[in-house]
Amino acid sequence: MADAEIGVIGGSGFYSFLDDVTEITVDTPYGRPSDSLFLGQIAGRQVAFLPRHGRGHHLPPHRINYRANLWALRSLGVRQVLAPCAVGGLRTEYGPGTLLVPDQLVDRTKARPQTYFDGEPLPDGKTPNVVHLTFADPYCPTGRQAALTAARGRDWEPVDGGTLVVIEGPRFSTRAESRWHAAQGWSVVGMTGHPEAVLARELSLCYTSLALVTDLDAGTETGDGVSHEEVFRVFAENVGRLREVLFDAVSGLPDNAARNCLCTEVHTGWDLGIDLP
Ligand code: ADE
Repeated sequence: MADAEIGVIGGSGFYSFLDDVTEITVDTPYGRPSDSLFLGQIAGRQVAFLPRHGRGHHLPPHRINYRANLWALRSLGVRQVLAPCAVGGLRTEYGPGTLLVPDQLVDRTKARPQTYFDGEPLPDGKTPNVVHLTFADPYCPTGRQAALTAARGRDWEPVDGGTLVVIEGPRFSTRAESRWHAAQGWSVVGMTGHPEAVLARELSLCYTSLALVTDLDAGTETGDGVSHEEVFRVFAENVGRLREVLFDAVSGLPDNAARNCLCTEVHTGWDLGIDLP
């Protein structure tokens, strides 16, 4: 039996999830994940929790080993990932405490490995390891519905859909950048949603982002300069109910064997000869 079927990747201020856990360390061909993985159960489902920034938040967004994190989860048996993250709101109606389940993503990161297919020849010595992934819809439709239903069940009306723009960080946006992001029609801004989503898709994992707004970004009408303290304070104020929503969302996910969404169907290139864990 797999060690875990569902993965939860905790964001800023979210370093533990389950009460009764087994802590394990996992190594991968891409190096070490952000921290130990914590295995436990929710309503009979095997869950692996991984704090994205490491316990104590020692990893800034651009130093997170996203490839190792997703690989480690998959190697334990995980096929569906719920990924909460802190974001800034780009519209005044998305104020602190808003929960948004995005359906689109814009990548404005600059220097992060974002593929497992890096071009080096495969074991046969000649086939180039190159894959251009279909990524029009970056999030799992089934996981999104589980997250939305779970939030509504906890009387936390979520925003259903919207675009998460991911910046390189670790600094927050200037007012001009923020206004530009908003003018594009994008909804929220964060620093970790990419390349996590695309690497999950390359591994044929279902991936769902739950974006918790901790601040109004600098360019929004009432938004002031964003501060690190504000982000952590608002996240801490909401982490209890986010945890409840995640518990319910885990229970609402299908069995891994019953997945029938686009995440499982895309050609990932693993049949080229690399061993997928
Ligand atoms: N994470 C939380 N708030 C943010 C913001 N305003 N910009 C980028 N990442 C964030």
